[in-house]
Amino acid sequence: MMKQQYLATSPAGVGVYLAQELLSFGAEEVVERPVGVSFTGTLALAYRVCLWSRLANRVILQLGAFDVRSTDDIYEAVTGLDWGAHIRESGSLMVDFSGRSEAIRNAQFGAQKVKDAIVDRYRQAGRSRPSVDLREPDVRVTAKLAKGQLTVGIDLSGDSLHQRGYRLDGGLAPLKENIAAAALWAADWPARSRRGEALIDPMCGSGTLLLEGALMALNRAPGLMRQRFGFQGWLGHDETQWQAVRADALEQSTQSASTDVEIRGYDADISAVRRATDNIVRLGLESTVRIRCKSLSALTRPTHRDLVTGLLVMNPPWGERMGDASSLRHLYHSIGEVISREFTDWSAAVLTSDVSLGKAIGLRAHKRYVSEWAT
Ligand SMILES: C[S@@+](CC[C@H](N)C(=O)[O-])C[C@H]1O[C@@H](n2cnc3c(N)ncnc32)[C@H](O)[C@@H]1O
Repeated sequence: MMKQQYLATSPAGVGVYLAQELLSFGAEEVVERPVGVSFTGTLALAYRVCLWSRLANRVILQLGAFDVRSTDDIYEAVTGLDWGAHIRESGSLMVDFSGRSEAIRNAQFGAQKVKDAIVDRYRQAGRSRPSVDLREPDVRVTAKLAKGQLTVGIDLSGDSLHQRGYRLDGGLAPLKENIAAAALWAADWPARSRRGEALIDPMCGSGTLLLEGALMALNRAPGLMRQRFGFQGWLGHDETQWQAVRADALEQSTQSASTDVEIRGYDADISAVRRATDNIVRLGLESTVRIRCKSLSALTRPTHRDLVTGLLVMNPPWGERMGDASSLRHLYHSIGEVISREFTDWSAAVLTSDVSLGKAIGLRAHKRYVSEWAT
């Protein structure tokens, strides 16, 4: 099967883990770049990344990179590509344009130029032309302009891959699923779960960290519940290949369904507990992830298994949205107290966008990571 070049994008700071993940899928020529991680592989590999990546936002099939100085250069570069191989003349498209230059001063103008060039390619061939659909296009074209170079591709993911399809209501401040997965990856949760360690989130909100942790421990593909991927309306799509990749993922999730892993969550707010429980049910993970309404101050280490150890992971409230400054400092201080009192031989990972609140925990961090904070 022919190998092609792809670009996977992720939240800032996550690229290094995304590169490791792509290598684990069998991607070749994996290179971390400012705009994402480029790799080569077959179409089946690209489908696998769309279905299995816990860290990517998008997977883009690269069609070409061009040095461009003017709008005419952009027009020529884009009309030169074989769009008839990608978009049906009766189909629809949308262009995501990013970047700017002397000639292209805003993304909307850039998107318009690229769209005009694509549809002219059909007109020149005397064919009818695809229409524009900004909501649910058959094909999403991406065009990025940086340092005088235009890269053009087909977005195989469609909506961002962090939208797994299991969370309908995230509550006040949910984490993006791929940020949660990156935190678990950085804290070595996949290896810990294989060693039989437990996972606890004492401030679980809608349960994102726990659910991503469960999907990892159970080797379940995160995209299995998504209704749609970007490649489904693309002319190059190979439904037989895709169904084979999907069937393999279903088979793997059936095989690992009985994995014994201890995952628990707590939250002081009963409505958060209800939201998390709904998400757990939607994923059918009731026997793996257990949630109760409990305040951090009442948290004790699990005692029902001998020598159980594990990872405490949490994303406490921060900033103006979720509490005033002095009560937040007090809360972070009590996180340090609970860890020292109950979880001395566990590892802990705390996700916060506020470094000074992090310091209020009062414990020394082994590692610190900076990522794009997004909810
Ligand atoms: C930023 S949210 C967590 C969001 C979660 N990671 C998600 O993706 O949905 C913080 C959570 O901490 C909970 N919380 C705040 N103070 C708490 C306390 N003292 N004990 C337990 N939970 C607490 C809040 O109810 C809220 O659900």
